Amino acid sequence: MTLRRKLFLTIALIILGLMAATYWLGGQALQSRLLKEAEIGLLSRGSIIANMARPFLGTAPASELDRIAQNHGPQIGARILILDPQGRVLADTFAEPELEGATLEHREVQVAQTGTATTGVRFLPDDGWVMYATVPVLSQKQVKGIVFLSEDINDTLGAVSAFRRQLLGIAALAGLIAAVLSLFMAQGIVRPLQLLTAKINDLKQGLLDERVPVRGNDEVAQLGRAFNDMSAEIQRQDQSRRQFIADASHEIRTPLATIQVLAEALEADEEMPRSKQSQFLQGIVSETDRLGHLVADLMALAEADDAALMAAPENLDLAALAHEEVERFQPLAANLEIELTLDPSNQGQGQGAPAYADPVLIRRALGNLIQNALTYTERGGKVVVLIREDEELDQRPAASVSVIDTGIGILEKDIPHLFERFFRIDKSRSRASGGTGLGLAIVKEIADLHHGKVTVASEPGKGTTFTLTLPSSPQV
Ligand SMILES: Nc1ncnc2c1ncn2[C@@H]1O[C@H](COP(=O)(O)OP(=O)(O)O)[C@@H](O)[C@H]1O
Ligand SMILES: [Mg+2]
Repeated sequence: MTLRRKLFLTIALIILGLMAATYWLGGQALQSRLLKEAEIGLLSRGSIIANMARPFLGTAPASELDRIAQNHGPQIGARILILDPQGRVLADTFAEPELEGATLEHREVQVAQTGTATTGVRFLPDDGWVMYATVPVLSQKQVKGIVFLSEDINDTLGAVSAFRRQLLGIAALAGLIAAVLSLFMAQGIVRPLQLLTAKINDLKQGLLDERVPVRGNDEVAQLGRAFNDMSAEIQRQDQSRRQFIADASHEIRTPLATIQVLAEALEADEEMPRSKQSQFLQGIVSETDRLGHLVADLMALAEADDAALMAAPENLDLAALAHEEVERFQPLAANLEIELTLDPSNQGQGQGAPAYADPVLIRRALGNLIQNALTYTERGGKVVVLIREDEELDQRPAASVSVIDTGIGILEKDIPHLFERFFRIDKSRSRASGGTGLGLAIVKEIADLHHGKVTVASEPGKGTTFTLTLPSSPQV
């Protein structure tokens, strides 16, 4: 069964139920109220007649009672019968001959004989609905006679049915309006869902720029918005994946092409002098080296991408880790005649800088930053690694490590692109150092993975500072 049909049937059932309830309960309430009023009215008229009749019961001639019944009946709008204690008719408003002297055995008469007034509603084939009221005429706790009133209540009950019909009409109208509204409402829910299903099917076929129109802020709109966000994100990821594959292939093709050219030249020229041969071979080795770097960086990136599963964070001391990393780069720094030091204010303190991170990944990130600092700093320059343990990340305690160089610096316009994959400002310099343009992308990936951040400040010609900030404790 479709959602639309379910909604419609539910609402239709509710409306039918409400209509039946109003019809039945509303009519019932009015009817019992009107009957109650009629009972009270009839009983009180009965008592008045009973008081009038009392002096004449048992003693006076029946003509007095006839007078009361015949005069007052029309006045009070009811037929009056006056009975003796046994239920025999003594007087009658209509003076019907067949009732004269007859004994009435109605339930109401029997109740009155016990001294209690009562009423009853009956349906008579000739007269329709009538109400009976019997009032005993008491004298010294003895039933002296019974006043029996009979009133036509067809009008009263007719009013109730008219009211019921009106109620039914109103309920039917309201039901009709509600049914139409519910159809619209069902439509309003179902249409966007159908559209969404169609769009999801399109998405499955690979149509990534599918979006649904969203109006309002109800749950259906929220679903639509979530779908739009999701498909935008899928599209973005797809695009970045394609871009990445294109860039990676390009990066791999370049050294491969060089290797091919060099190897072909070597093969074609048998008379090539030894020195030239070894120069070409050296070229092949360095391009192979470059390919090796590239593959290693691509692997590192894939790993960091996937590290949500693989990262093994622990409580570590960022200062100790930085110290080790600085030591590791000392030979390279010496080779490049660059002074590489841990900030003296960190040394010998021994307090440490607590960070909650995966040591392998942090070593890789920090290694990349130090490698860059050494690569993009001239001979005789300085590189300082500085640790701070009193940082904050979103108001949570954090530690940071900064790599400060006195190198060539970075132009303002290049800064936003630094962390993009394969971005290099000076390709030849980067290449000479074995750079792939992936180092900072890896650093950024690792920072994000740890809910940390990496920032850069630079002044062209003066130097650059990269800072990696990591939380001190696990995210709660
Ligand atoms: N410390 C630095 N000083 C100046 N330029 C830098 C520094 N670090 C990175 N860069 C610039 O950012 C680019 C991207 O860095 P990175 O992603 O590590 O790639 P690469 O493999 O080229 O080192 C580098 O090519 C370089 O132009
Ligand atoms: Mg680098």
